[in-house]
Amino acid sequence: MIRLGVNIDHVATVRQARRAAEPDPVQAAVLALLGGADGITVHLREDARHIQKRDVQLLRQLLPTGLNLELSVAEDIVEFAVNLKPDQATLVPERREELTTEGGLDVVAHEAAVAKAIERLKAAGIAVAVFVDPNIRQIEISKLLGATAVEIQTASYSEARTPADRERELDALHESGTYARDHKLHLHMGHGLNYTNVRPLLKRIPALEEVNIGHSIVSRAVLVGMERAVREMKEALRGG
Ligand code: PXP
Repeated sequence: MIRLGVNIDHVATVRQARRAAEPDPVQAAVLALLGGADGITVHLREDARHIQKRDVQLLRQLLPTGLNLELSVAEDIVEFAVNLKPDQATLVPERREELTTEGGLDVVAHEAAVAKAIERLKAAGIAVAVFVDPNIRQIEISKLLGATAVEIQTASYSEARTPADRERELDALHESGTYARDHKLHLHMGHGLNYTNVRPLLKRIPALEEVNIGHSIVSRAVLVGMERAVREMKEALRGG
C-alpha cells in the first residue's frame, strides 16, 4: 500500500495570517494520523512564513516515526534538521518570492551544496530525498550525490489542462520513476495532487512508494469542517 504523507503547512498559513495560536498544525497532525496518514510532512522555509521551528520541535516529540521535513540546502536550516533528526529530510529549492515550491531542485546546477547537505543529513542518520523534476539527469545526479530517495514533482502533471498533455506528463513521470527504481532509489511524488488526479498516477506508476499531499487535503478539511464549526458557534451563542 502506498504511503500518504500529509503536508500540514497550510494549517500554519491560516494561523500565521493572524499571528495567532490557532489553528495549530500540531493538532492537525494528530487528526491527520487518526485519519490514517502514514506520515506528516512540513516545510520549514527560511522565511518561516508558515511552519515555525516550534511546530517541528513539537512534531518531533509527538511522532515516533514518519516525520518528513522539507528544507532548502541553506546551512542553518540543514543544521536545524541535523539536530532535530526527522525520519526523512526532503531537499527542495526555495525562493522567497514564490507562492509555493516551483519546480524541482536543480541538483546539476547546485551539485556542491546538495552533496554537502546530503552528507551532513545522512551522517546524522536521516534518510534524504531530493525533490526533482521528472528528468533522468536530475535523478542520476541525485543518486550519485547519495540521496536515498527522489520525490518527483507532479506539478506539471497536475497543471496539465488537456488529456494529451496529461498523458505526456504521465509518460515523463513513468519514465523518470522507472529510472529511479532501477537505480535503487525510493520513489516518492508530490505537488498539486488532489482527490481526482491521484488515481491515474497510481495506475500508471505502481512502483510509487509515497505521495505527499497538502493543499487539496487542507482545502477539503476547511470545507467538510465548516458546517460543524458554525453549529458549534451557534451552540456557544445559545449557551450565553
Ligand atoms: N512535496 C513537496 C516537495 C512540496 O514542496 C509540496 C508543497 O509544499 C508538496 C509535496 C505538497 O504539495 P501540495 O500542497 O500541492 O499538495
